[in-house]
Amino acid sequence: MVDLLGQYNKIKPEIDKAVLDVIASSAYINGPEVKAFQAELEIYLGAKHVIPCANGTDALQIAMMALGLKPGDEVITANFTYVATAEVIALLQLRPVLVDVIPGTFTIDPVAFEKAITSKTKAVVPVHLFGQCAEMDKIMEISKRHKLFVIEDTAQAIGADYTMPDGTKKKAGTIGDIGCTSFFPSKNLGCFGDGGAIFTNDDELAKKMRMVANHGQSVLYYHDEIGVNSRLDSIQAAILRIKLRHLDEYAAARNRVADYYDKAFANNAHAEIPVRESKSNHVFHQYTLVLKGVDRNAMREFLAAKSIPSMIYYPVPLHLQKAYTDPRYKEGDFPVTENLCANVISFPIHTEMTDEDLEYITAGVLEFINK
Ligand SMILES: Cc1ncc(COP(=O)(O)O)c(C=O)c1O
Repeated sequence: MVDLLGQYNKIKPEIDKAVLDVIASSAYINGPEVKAFQAELEIYLGAKHVIPCANGTDALQIAMMALGLKPGDEVITANFTYVATAEVIALLQLRPVLVDVIPGTFTIDPVAFEKAITSKTKAVVPVHLFGQCAEMDKIMEISKRHKLFVIEDTAQAIGADYTMPDGTKKKAGTIGDIGCTSFFPSKNLGCFGDGGAIFTNDDELAKKMRMVANHGQSVLYYHDEIGVNSRLDSIQAAILRIKLRHLDEYAAARNRVADYYDKAFANNAHAEIPVRESKSNHVFHQYTLVLKGVDRNAMREFLAAKSIPSMIYYPVPLHLQKAYTDPRYKEGDFPVTENLCANVISFPIHTEMTDEDLEYITAGVLEFINK
């Protein structure tokens, strides 16, 4: 699905030097590379504060811990997402409230979001799924009216821009109160292990999140809160500094792949191409078709026999996952999410794809769906 080795080979001398320099410096934790990456990411995003941490799941957890939410408080999120989003809500004994998504863009449905708000709702987590922003203008407006915190899960959309109602552009993750991202290797900005970061423009929240991420201390060995230990290490930061300089070029390469797929699959009776939200550009973390009347398992076997990788993001909606069984929800309650889980299929999309790769993949897919 990705070619991380191919991407590394293109920047190998720079990366190797940076990693060896960190090793020679022996500043492995919270070293100068971490501080430099933090400052460079703040500039790239136009965010006042970036707090690096150990992974994207921790980023979400630290954000929710810092907001002072209490057990039983409700947090609304999209049903069609990676489990991490709902996992941290449940772990903190908050109540995950799931809502359906928009069929073409796969992002949280603002109408369903507003309907799900109760007197216990404290926050919403829009997920910028597959590389484009949720409808943040509507989400911000609704959240403001209901005094809810907005935590953007931008693990899959770092670098995407969103055009606000006044015409200004903001980076994904800098629109709400807090943005959370992951630097998992296959992400658009991926390191060579685990990594994550939290963004905010709020000085107080930034202070609190730094403290939570550092065992609840702002002065060494004085613990004002119960916190966690969540750090980005210096080697990963050194790698991310280099890759950040290529992020926009990586997004352009992904868009070239998506354009190729769109052209090949547009107007096909058996597949719907992903809808591009007009207010967000798309950084195509995934390229995902919605199949219509196609036997997906048979298709995947057919493609695998031709060495064409495919993945299902995501096969089971959260409300039908064993761990998230909840008497409030039953099969049929989230028709859009359930249809997507049954019919989506994602194809390889990365920065190193050639026209030959694309020709081969699209020919294989079309051979199956058109037969
Ligand atoms: C939407 C979403 N949220 C959160 C995460 C969690 O990130 P991490 O794997 O770095 O913990 C991911 C990672 O796959 C994700 O895709």
